[in-house]
Amino acid sequence: MTVKLYVPKDAAALALGADRVAAAIEREAIARGVAVSIVRNGSRGMHWLEPLVEVVVGHERIAYGPVRPDDVASLFDAGFLEGGAHPLCRGATKDIPFLKQQTRLTFARCGIVDPLSLDDYRRFRGLTGLEKAIEMAPGDIVREVTDSGLRGRGGAGFPTGIKWKTVLEAAGERKYIVCNADEGDSGTFADRMIMEGDPFVLIEGMAIAGLATGATMGFIYTRSEYPHAIAAMSAAIEVARREGVLGPSVLGSGRAFDMEVRVGAGAYVCGEETALLNSLEGKRGVVRAKPPLPAHKGLFDCPTVINNVISLASVPVILDRGAAFYRDFGMGRSRGTIPIQIAGNVKHGGLYETAFGLSLGEIVDHIGGGTASGRPVKAVQVGGPLGAYFPRALFDTPFDYEAFAAKDGLIGHAGIVVFDDTVDMLHQARFAMEFCAIESCGKCTPCRIGSTRGVEVADNIAHGVEPEKNRELLADLCNTMKFGSLCALGGFTPYPVMSAMTHFPEDFTPAPRVEAAE
Ligand SMILES: Cc1cc2nc3c(=O)[nH]c(=O)nc-3n(C[C@H](O)[C@H](O)[C@H](O)COP(=O)(O)O)c2cc1C
Ligand code: SF4
Repeated sequence: MTVKLYVPKDAAALALGADRVAAAIEREAIARGVAVSIVRNGSRGMHWLEPLVEVVVGHERIAYGPVRPDDVASLFDAGFLEGGAHPLCRGATKDIPFLKQQTRLTFARCGIVDPLSLDDYRRFRGLTGLEKAIEMAPGDIVREVTDSGLRGRGGAGFPTGIKWKTVLEAAGERKYIVCNADEGDSGTFADRMIMEGDPFVLIEGMAIAGLATGATMGFIYTRSEYPHAIAAMSAAIEVARREGVLGPSVLGSGRAFDMEVRVGAGAYVCGEETALLNSLEGKRGVVRAKPPLPAHKGLFDCPTVINNVISLASVPVILDRGAAFYRDFGMGRSRGTIPIQIAGNVKHGGLYETAFGLSLGEIVDHIGGGTASGRPVKAVQVGGPLGAYFPRALFDTPFDYEAFAAKDGLIGHAGIVVFDDTVDMLHQARFAMEFCAIESCGKCTPCRIGSTRGVEVADNIAHGVEPEKNRELLADLCNTMKFGSLCALGGFTPYPVMSAMTHFPEDFTPAPRVEAAE
């Protein structure tokens, strides 16, 4: 009898040795004369357990992790192919608390299916949303997405249905769906994980977006740092084309939709939608002034939907289960689920999909398990490099767009980076300015010049040069950048800087020095 095992092919698992573990299992199985078949799945999102090996025993999957190549012989000795006891055994995968407590709608199949098997995809309700969309008028698809309350997961939280409606109503011989898979935010990996672990869900979401708006061509724009996601997406597109999911007649509907992957070199600003369009057109990745909105005049001046990977990958379940099903999850105007990415100095880092509304403290302390270093949590940066630093005092903030905005923060792409009490927040504020200076596209003065000046002012504070005056200057500079920048790179860099200064003033008053910094 052949025993089926799952060893992730996800980049995080690969970085931790998943390929070597898979090879070691194959070698050991041959040496012992047992038949195994290894499926290379996506990650379950529990990074501290990677590489997580799962063995199919009866109707269950039994998890072992983190497995190193050296552990493989002892796993065989322990009878892991029958689910035998071993120090690395975690029991049934679905019962691991980190997984069990999640609400996986967008990531429902990630880690469960063979990413490139369309049969697997169908077996787990794949393509049902697209089949339903084919029977609907474009306006009705748009209404379903609008009614679901889905808001863009790329950062700004703009209602997806309204964006689609604008493109549907825009005149244009050609329209495009552009998927923003640049994923430049620090501590984020949801886009990559879904592209590697369940690429068909993104293809299905984009095809539905095409049917809803009249677009017949889609592009996934991602970065060269994502070679595994590029390979998985490209291979899945090939399969989808071969099986008639993509092409001149989507699932035999007579309506066309096709797509391609495009790879950028990896510049943070190329995640900004208009810089992305320039890059996609082969131009330098510089931000365009708005209006015109991309929905009116986007790629090659045609009406264009630009959505984040997770926004698009959340559409199939909405069409499949209905707007009301999706909208029932969440709080306030933040509807549905959100894949929270927990990273940094944290015990249980990984991807946790849940309805909006959990408090930041629950996420960091209970789900994340506190710091990996075992020291107290000092600060948490939420929403990438442009997100605010939250102190413990704000840990009661619910994960909700409006609640975070009310505390001068943002959810962004839902990345959380945890820091212990050894972090120096003045250093982090300086880093935010330095990051902006390096990544600025240079189009507008507040960002291009302001960020460089910001680094200098932070250095002056650190050197004890007229600290009070320089703190005021830093706040003034932030104000200018916030209100004077053309895009959110310059406009939101003040969030990490000001939050660091507001919540951790003690780090901004180093011992005074007499000499002036040059
Ligand atoms: C500097 C900068 C970087 C951005 N990077 C990304 C990114 O990597 N991925 C993304 O989806 N959105 C990113 N955005 C937001 C996009 O401009 C845009 O709002 C988003 O792709 C729209 O999709 P959504 O409505 O589905 O969120 C970035 C914005 C800025 C200002
Ligand atoms: S804020 Fe910065 S990145 Fe944005 S347009 Fe201005 S210079 Fe470019």
